Amino acid sequence: MTELTPVTESTAIKADAPKTMAMPDAQTVTEVKHYTDRLFSFRCTRPGTMRFRSGEFVMIGLMGDPDPKTGKVKPLLRAYSIASPSWDEELEFYSIKVQDGPLTSKLQHIKVGDEIILRPKPVGTLVHDALLPGKRLWFFATGTGFAPFASLLREPQTYEDYDEVIITHTCREVGELTYGHDLIESLKTDELLNEVIGEGFWKKIKYYPTTTREESPKMGRITDLMRSGEAFADLGVPPLNKETDRAMICGNLAFNLELKAMLEDYGLEEGANSDPKHYVVEKAFLD
Ligand SMILES: Cc1cc2nc3c(=O)[nH]c(=O)nc-3n(C[C@H](O)[C@H](O)[C@H](O)COP(=O)(O)OP(=O)(O)OC[C@H]3O[C@@H](n4cnc5c(N)ncnc54)[C@H](O)[C@@H]3O)c2cc1C
Ligand SMILES: NC(=O)c1ccc[n+]([C@@H]2O[C@H](COP(=O)([O-])OP(=O)(O)OC[C@H]3O[C@@H](n4cnc5c(N)ncnc54)[C@H](OP(=O)(O)O)[C@@H]3O)[C@@H](O)[C@H]2O)c1
Repeated sequence: MTELTPVTESTAIKADAPKTMAMPDAQTVTEVKHYTDRLFSFRCTRPGTMRFRSGEFVMIGLMGDPDPKTGKVKPLLRAYSIASPSWDEELEFYSIKVQDGPLTSKLQHIKVGDEIILRPKPVGTLVHDALLPGKRLWFFATGTGFAPFASLLREPQTYEDYDEVIITHTCREVGELTYGHDLIESLKTDELLNEVIGEGFWKKIKYYPTTTREESPKMGRITDLMRSGEAFADLGVPPLNKETDRAMICGNLAFNLELKAMLEDYGLEEGANSDPKHYVVEKAFLD
């Protein structure tokens, strides 16, 4: 964990630094970690002028292959949630590896010192500003949908605004939970966050990982576990209620739609940056 201070020109790459870099909006990779044959995370430098709200996403990528006719190369960009918190002097991303994916078939091979393209224009709905005040905050994720919550779980405002933070993460296999599990464990021993947010802040977190296609201590889709009441019993909380509960959803499209309908049945309404309400949704990928 790095210093809990806003990024300044002196703590990150200067806006005019790319003069020596080969790509537009280039940032340098500082760390890469592989979790499974389908998942990895990496960190890179952060433009000194870039501000964002924890939970937002940006466009990142690499230069594409030369056009066979013209020989010209164009940037190949995709949306990525920023997994690091707004105060971090570097940026972190948590990524899928799609073997025939135009971007991630290449991105999965990046190494420390390589450059990626980062368009520093953060946007998104998974932000505190889009929610009305509440007591309990739910983060619902599948797969790489954990990424924006990796940012928000390290954001002091999350613990200032809520008494309790519940993070559910549904994946097919156990290995796909490692990034989230390790991140939550790391909060317990993070001296800086414990000092800034308050000693033992992490005790507000209830982590509920589940798998659907490999044996683990808790099996099943979170939607089914909520419908049966099992998830609420396990967590020791009542079903969601619009007076106390706020939620952020980030998963595949079917998951988002199913959970959205369930939250509406509990009486929660969808919010937006311009119209804060009880829950917000964002896709973890396009289809
Ligand atoms: C708002 C938003 C935020 C996103 N944030 C992230 C992020 O933080 N991390 C991340 O890995 N991806 C994220 N994505 C998906 C990302 O934009 C790309 O789709 C992904 O990097 C694959 O790119 P590609 O060019 O290799 O393949 P694409 O041509 O983009 O995708 C090929 C196929 O791979 C599958 N796929 C794509 N992304 C994922 C994924 N994340 N998980 C499972 N299957 C997938 C889909 O079936 C898709 O049709 C996000 C997408 C959106 C819309
Ligand atoms: N994960 C892998 O090992 C793997 C391997 C090769 C290829 N792929 C391909 O990669 C793509 C993405 O796979 P992914 O595993 O990252 O993401 P995913 O298919 O979105 O699944 C992630 C998790 O979300 C659950 N889920 C899906 N729909 C749901 C819903 N409506 N409500 C509640 N939970 C729901 C899944 O449960 P279920 O298991 O019950 O669907 C799974 O546990 C898919 O096209 C897949 O075919 C995945």
